[in-house]
Amino acid sequence: MTVTRKSALQVVEGIGLAGKVCVVTGASSGLGRESARALAAAGAHVVLAARNHEALNQTVEWIAAEAPGALTSTVPLDLTSLASVRAAAKAISELTSVIHVLMNNAGVMFTPFGRTADGFETQIGTNHFGHFELTRLLIPELAAAGDARIVNLSSGGHVLGDVDFDDPHWERREYDKFVAYGASKTANILHAVEADRRLRDMGIRAYAVHPGTVATSLARYMSRSDFSQLRKYAAAGSAARGQPNDGYLDFTSPDHGAATQVWAAVSPELAGRGGLYLENCAVSDTVAPYAVDQQRAADWWALSERLCST
Ligand SMILES: NC(=O)c1ccc[n+]([C@@H]2O[C@H](COP(=O)([O-])OP(=O)(O)OC[C@H]3O[C@@H](n4cnc5c(N)ncnc54)[C@H](OP(=O)(O)O)[C@@H]3O)[C@@H](O)[C@H]2O)c1
Repeated sequence: MTVTRKSALQVVEGIGLAGKVCVVTGASSGLGRESARALAAAGAHVVLAARNHEALNQTVEWIAAEAPGALTSTVPLDLTSLASVRAAAKAISELTSVIHVLMNNAGVMFTPFGRTADGFETQIGTNHFGHFELTRLLIPELAAAGDARIVNLSSGGHVLGDVDFDDPHWERREYDKFVAYGASKTANILHAVEADRRLRDMGIRAYAVHPGTVATSLARYMSRSDFSQLRKYAAAGSAARGQPNDGYLDFTSPDHGAATQVWAAVSPELAGRGGLYLENCAVSDTVAPYAVDQQRAADWWALSERLCST
C-alpha cells in the first residue's frame, strides 16, 4: 500500500477557511478528531458532532490548545437513531444557515449483529443510513454555501461486500460482520456518487474517501483471529489487482490518515469535479465497479430514502 505522505495539517497549509463552516461527524476520536483540528487550524468554524459528550468536550479543549483561537461548536448525534439524527440536523441548522463542508466520518466496524433504533443492521445503520438522513436534512444549508462539499468516509474494505437491495436488514442471510462492513462502506460510495449527480446543480459536490489503514479505535471490536482474516482479505485483494502483498497491514497514524478526507474537503484540485473515490490525496481507480455504478447509486438513494422515511 502506498502510504499517504502528507498530514492533515500539511494539507491545509496555505488554505484559508475563515468564514467557512465545516460539520464533522465522529469528531470525538481518530480521523474525525484530526480532521476537525486541521479544518479549525485553517480558520473554519467546525461543528463537531458525536454521541459521547465527554469525548466531544475533550476534543474541543484539545483543538483549542492545538489551534489557539479555533472556532468550534458541538452537537450531540447518535447515528443509530434517526430521531437523534433529526434532532442533530435541527441543532446544526439553528447554529448555522450555511454549511461549506459536511464530513460524514463517524463509523463502526465489524460489530456483532445488532439493530439500530429504527431496525437497521448496526453497521449499515450507523455508517450509511444515519448519514444519508443527516445529509438529506442539511441540503438547504449546503446549497446556501453555493460551493459546498460532502465527504463520505468509505474504505478500501468496501470490497468485502456489496449492498443487498433485497435484504438490506439481514433478515434472509446469516450475518457476516465482514460483509456487513463492506456493504456499509459500499453504501457510502454509492451515496456520494448519487449525491453528486443530484446536487451538483445546487453547487454541492460529493466524494468518497479511503483513508488508508489507520491506527484508531475503529478496531475495538476486532479479535486476534479477525486481524488474521483481514490480512488474508488484504492479500487476496492485492493479488486480484496484480499487486504484491504478503498480508501485512501497513498502519499509518491518524494525522496522516486524515489527510485525504481533509484534501477532499478543501483542495482546489477538485474544483468542478465530484462523485469520485479518493485515496492518498488523489483520485483513485481502486474502487469496485459495483460501488460507482450510476444506476445502482440512483436505486440505492431511492431505497435509502424509502427506508429512512418509514
Ligand atoms: N481507521 C481506519 O483504518 C479506517 C480505514 C478505512 C475507513 N475508515 C473509516 O473512517 C471513519 C472514522 O473511523 P476512525 O478510524 O477514526 O474510528 P474511531 O477512532 O473509532 O472514530 C469513529 C468515530 O465515530 C463515532 N461514532 C461511532 N458510532 C457512532 C454513532 N452511532 N453516532 C455518532 N457517532 C458515532 C465514534 O464515537 P464513539 O466514540 O462515541 O463511538 C468516533 O467519534 C469510519 O467511517 C471508518 O469506517 C477508517
